[in-house]
Amino acid sequence: MAKAKSAYVCNDCGADFPRWLGQCPECKAWNTLTEIRLTSKTTPTSSERRGFSGITEGRVQTLNEVDLQEVPRFSSGFQEFDRVLGGGVVPGSAILIGGSPGAGKSTLLLQALCKLAERMPALYVTGEESLQQVAMRAQRLNLPTDKLRMLSETSVESICQLADKEKPAIMVIDSIQVMHMADIQSAPGSVSQVRESAAFLTRYAKQKNVAIIMVGHVTKEGHLAGPKVLEHCIDCSVLLDGSSDSRYRTLRGTKNRFGAVNELGVFAMTGGGLKEVSNPSAIFLQRAEDQGNGSVVMVIWEGTRPLLVEIQALVDYSALANPRRVAVGLEATRLALLLAVLHRHGGLQVSDQDVFVNVVGGVKVSETSADLALLLAIVSSFKGEPLPRELIVFGEVGLAGEIRPVPNGLERLNEAAKHGFKKAIVPIGNTPKTSPKGMEVIGVKNLQQALDVM
Ligand code: TYD
Ligand code: MG
Repeated sequence: MAKAKSAYVCNDCGADFPRWLGQCPECKAWNTLTEIRLTSKTTPTSSERRGFSGITEGRVQTLNEVDLQEVPRFSSGFQEFDRVLGGGVVPGSAILIGGSPGAGKSTLLLQALCKLAERMPALYVTGEESLQQVAMRAQRLNLPTDKLRMLSETSVESICQLADKEKPAIMVIDSIQVMHMADIQSAPGSVSQVRESAAFLTRYAKQKNVAIIMVGHVTKEGHLAGPKVLEHCIDCSVLLDGSSDSRYRTLRGTKNRFGAVNELGVFAMTGGGLKEVSNPSAIFLQRAEDQGNGSVVMVIWEGTRPLLVEIQALVDYSALANPRRVAVGLEATRLALLLAVLHRHGGLQVSDQDVFVNVVGGVKVSETSADLALLLAIVSSFKGEPLPRELIVFGEVGLAGEIRPVPNGLERLNEAAKHGFKKAIVPIGNTPKTSPKGMEVIGVKNLQQALDVM
């Protein structure tokens, strides 16, 4: 038998190297390389080396011959969760749900599985909490507990053996960081254990057509603890996010082999567990009666639906040689770019001012449709003139000061009208033939026009 070989894998980016290094050449992080043992194999024969090993009966076909059956899916019991997964759980898929401790991963999955167990065989494997703890939580949340099969185990081999007997259609592994495999000689939670356990469970999911949902903790930096490499082998990766001081949790896809990744699901943590929020705009829009200067509501697009969010700006005289530019929930480079456009095409000089902007509710915006709202909020704060409370704004700002249209203009306007907004400043390309009922829509061509009508 050949000697067991090792490789060194970076905890942060997942790159592997034949020997240990202090700094990862790929992502330049220090001290992140850990050793993993590769399972020993007998020396390959010459044909294996040339890549001809294990020839199977394959068939080459043209793309249009491939059977285009709809991927069958089943609902997780939560519409918001289904949406993030691209329309439900695909049988035989491996899903990773990440989140910081206390985000509510175990709660969400326990709620989902108790309900699913009524319809199909389901198995919940807990490696972190005891069976009593899980049972107490289920009882407190008033969940149906008579069908869900439970297992407290951390050995991947034993789990799969038992699952062979139970034949679940869906299985939860809580969490992947405590799982271990016998022939890997390192502690549970180490890169090699997590990586091999996840890979093994993913293969198992495919072979036995069991949907497996694995829980993964994230580190301080927001990475999935244990390697990024986890993301390579699984089918979907979703992140449950939310600070512990807020009731709201957002669920967002970061990788999905069966659908789009830009969907956002919103939940509220209540005394009775996680509840879906089907109208998220309402929660991000809780505004004070007297909103003051520098605040306006914009309509951003999240996956397949519009979301109304408030944006705030504070512009104040700076004593610093280099005034501060701080953006929370937006890219700082975008802010710098827009301030340059504001100076050149709006005639507003803010080079001696600190500029702070914030997207309310911890929402992160990566869309350019926020540009115009951001600039109007800045101008409002700078001039000390509040914007009308019933105004919504969206539109992309170009470097020549032109206001460019954004996708789904009408849907955005309709959503705003539904929430009682009466006035909209939007790109001229997004003005509809007939405005939504009760709303005045003002189309603008360039920044100067927008500043004139605000
Ligand atoms: P949990 O699902 O254990 O988090 P995770 O598995 O992601 O680490 O959720 C824990 C938090 O949720 C806990 O701090 C308390 C809160 N919580 C509620 O507020 N209400 C509830 O009904 C439940 C079950 C938990
Ligand atoms: Mg947990």
